[in-house]
Amino acid sequence: MNKEILRRRTLAIISHPDAGKTTLTEKLLLYGGALELAGSVTVKKKQRDTASDWMELEKKRGISISSTVLQFEYNNFKFNLLDTPGHKDFSEDTYRVLTAVDGVIMVIDAAKGIESRTVKLFEICRKHGIAIFTFMNKLDRPAMSPLELIDQIEKVLGLRTFPVNWPIENGSSFKGLYDRVQKEVHLFERTPGGVYKAPFTIHSTTDESFKKIMFDSVYNEFIDEINLLEHVYTDLNRKKILEGDLSPVYFGSAANNFGVELLLKGYLDYSSPPLPRKTSAGEFLAMDNPDFSAFIFKIQTNMNPQHRDRMVFARVCSGKFQREEKVFNTRTQKEIRLSSAHNVFGKERETADEAYPGDVIGFITNADFKIGDTVSSDINIIFEKIPRFAPELFAYLNNTSTSKYKSFRKGLDHLITEDIVQTFRIDNHIKNVPLLGALGNLQFEVLQYRLRDEYGVETNLEVLPWTVLRWLKNPDDRLVIKSKLSFGGITGTDEHGKPVVFFENSWKLKYFEDNNPEIQLVDFLIEF
Ligand code: G4P
Repeated sequence: MNKEILRRRTLAIISHPDAGKTTLTEKLLLYGGALELAGSVTVKKKQRDTASDWMELEKKRGISISSTVLQFEYNNFKFNLLDTPGHKDFSEDTYRVLTAVDGVIMVIDAAKGIESRTVKLFEICRKHGIAIFTFMNKLDRPAMSPLELIDQIEKVLGLRTFPVNWPIENGSSFKGLYDRVQKEVHLFERTPGGVYKAPFTIHSTTDESFKKIMFDSVYNEFIDEINLLEHVYTDLNRKKILEGDLSPVYFGSAANNFGVELLLKGYLDYSSPPLPRKTSAGEFLAMDNPDFSAFIFKIQTNMNPQHRDRMVFARVCSGKFQREEKVFNTRTQKEIRLSSAHNVFGKERETADEAYPGDVIGFITNADFKIGDTVSSDINIIFEKIPRFAPELFAYLNNTSTSKYKSFRKGLDHLITEDIVQTFRIDNHIKNVPLLGALGNLQFEVLQYRLRDEYGVETNLEVLPWTVLRWLKNPDDRLVIKSKLSFGGITGTDEHGKPVVFFENSWKLKYFEDNNPEIQLVDFLIEF
């Protein structure tokens, strides 16, 4: 059991759209032997209609709503790579996936540096204390200087770094990488279209064969830089990496397969095997506990349009999962049989016969499940709740099929319990429907789609101008906050009656915070 746990790594890739997350995913699969030729993941992305049999809406929009789990093996380690939907399909799911991993690779486009979506995803990782590995991608294009890129991570994200390798030039002159740990130079050869692993040769920095491939001035500059690094970045401290306080940085080009294997090896060297999860009693549950347990971080509905079924994704936290096992949903105390659990690899769902802590299983069910529920063979195990993240879009949903008010209410009430969106009430707004909050428009679209498809109800969205929500850390502040919101902001409550404030934009939030430092606002709620 422990051997199986120790050989697992569960991670996600985070990035701003277009930085290269899909390409890197594909190349990790190539190096992990799960793909013989690179190309299929990207092809899938372009031909979603044919590659995906998931929600109808997904087909129409040509995007992936679902968090897919990709599994591959490398050097006898088993990787579970969880997809974090990123583009237009950004939603609360993206954040929730990060509660199910033990580490992330943050991909940055080396020409653009840190971009907005990266900052947001990074902040969630930091709150969870997740280890963050950085991959500076697209060095085959003209890039910012590596020192500038490192500096940006330190300044913009406030994250300390350790460059593990260092690029030898960039753009069309990009030749390879210097591995600071092994103290050797890897010179790569481009392969057409990057479909095969990139061949490389290893040299010392003083090899004549290495020196002669560049101008003396460039060589001297390179040597100066790596000497400088030795003085400034001295401590590749695994403990700090695991605590999320230090990011090992790798450079490369996912498209050309340069640096991908160094990243993969580095990830294995410095990341952690699956970490235990806390129960609601605040204690870590031992992973080798004989009872199987897992927590649900994602629910995907209607994956098969012929059956109204739902695929529930859970991260295994203790024990060994075996097919046909009877388990409890410990919230409802109902017993269920996980007869159709799957390892999920894109469209193909392989039936999982067994799974260990760190693995993700998906099972199809009609039973009552909510995000954060625990499934376990021990009815007494309940994991800590998954945090709520502050939505950034707010809207009322109005029923336009007036004759179908009852169906509208029934559908809305039912779908809200599935955590597709969060719900709020604005103080003194007399409305018979709750205010809906989401991180991405897609969450509203899914709700509207399902109301139409399952309840035959047409709706329209009445979008409100608020873009920032904060919870009051001290609920008693609700008594004084109204009088302090003269410059903007409106009060309300979340679905559990916890007080919240809505602001039009982050500038107004900042103004409020600067003027009322005694009131603590939070964008992330662990207990609800
Ligand atoms: P994403 O999932 O983060 O959104 O990014 P994705 O991998 O789809 O990559 C976005 C674009 O960047 C793609 O180009 C991809 O080929 C390109 N790209 C990724 N890695 C590298 C790299 O190392 N070097 C260079 N030069 N480009 C890279 P596209 O034009 O949108 O698609 P395609 O026609 O190239 O597939």
